[in-house]
Amino acid sequence: MKKKGTKKRFLLVANWKMNPDSLEDAKVLAAAFERKAKKSARTAVVVCPPAPFITTLVGNGKKSVRIGSQDIDHRTEGSFTGSVSARQVRTSGAEYAIIGHSERRAAGDTDAIIVEKVLRAFEAGLKVILCVGEDKRDHNAQYLLAVRSQLMAVLAKVEKSRLKQIVIAYEPVWAIGKSFASALSPRDIHEMSIFIKKVVAEAAGKDAGLRAQVLYGGSVSVDSARDMLAEGGVDGLLVGRQSLDAENFNGIIDHADSI
Ligand code: PGA
Repeated sequence: MKKKGTKKRFLLVANWKMNPDSLEDAKVLAAAFERKAKKSARTAVVVCPPAPFITTLVGNGKKSVRIGSQDIDHRTEGSFTGSVSARQVRTSGAEYAIIGHSERRAAGDTDAIIVEKVLRAFEAGLKVILCVGEDKRDHNAQYLLAVRSQLMAVLAKVEKSRLKQIVIAYEPVWAIGKSFASALSPRDIHEMSIFIKKVVAEAAGKDAGLRAQVLYGGSVSVDSARDMLAEGGVDGLLVGRQSLDAENFNGIIDHADSI
């Protein structure tokens, strides 16, 4: 149960990936979220657009919608063509960075690189949305070990005082970008959110475990979001495709507000 006060009850993160097609379209979409988010007292919204759009969307935002990057480099500066540093992202006005998304892990991010990225994010003053999730489910609970090991790799290297700057997004890889019917059930989401909090408690103490913010991501839709939030025991959702449609994403904000 969240304390009453200024803390928002749910966090909804829009991961736009390599969409939409133009800055103009991005502005229209972000403005539609802004109109909805500013009326919501209970739900915080973070949009993670492609990096070139960050500055414009930060400038356009009336601060109800926060901006994040989809990734950062693990180094601070230098001859790394195409890379973007944590400080560049932060000084462009973004407040969050997604780190460890499965699409970046598939492109070569190891746990060691992910740890470095998390440390660069903290140095720059960014909050981290750390993605973890197994490739597949099995009957011997190996998937729990996989998630645990991704989490421990980071938690072991991060000072406890930094933990409040991390949001953990549990995204089973097999459920990302699939039919909306193949998203994890609210019951299974609940089980994983408890498991993740236990791992945080093991690494950083009971209080840290209780305070850990856990999101679910992977084929979230406007039709499934309500049950995921109401019964999944999570603090919010990381939304891919359905965040590219204002009606759907705003519908998810409405659901979050209604719980
Ligand atoms: P999806 O993407 O909602 O389209 O499955 C989620 C993600 O990859 O973060």
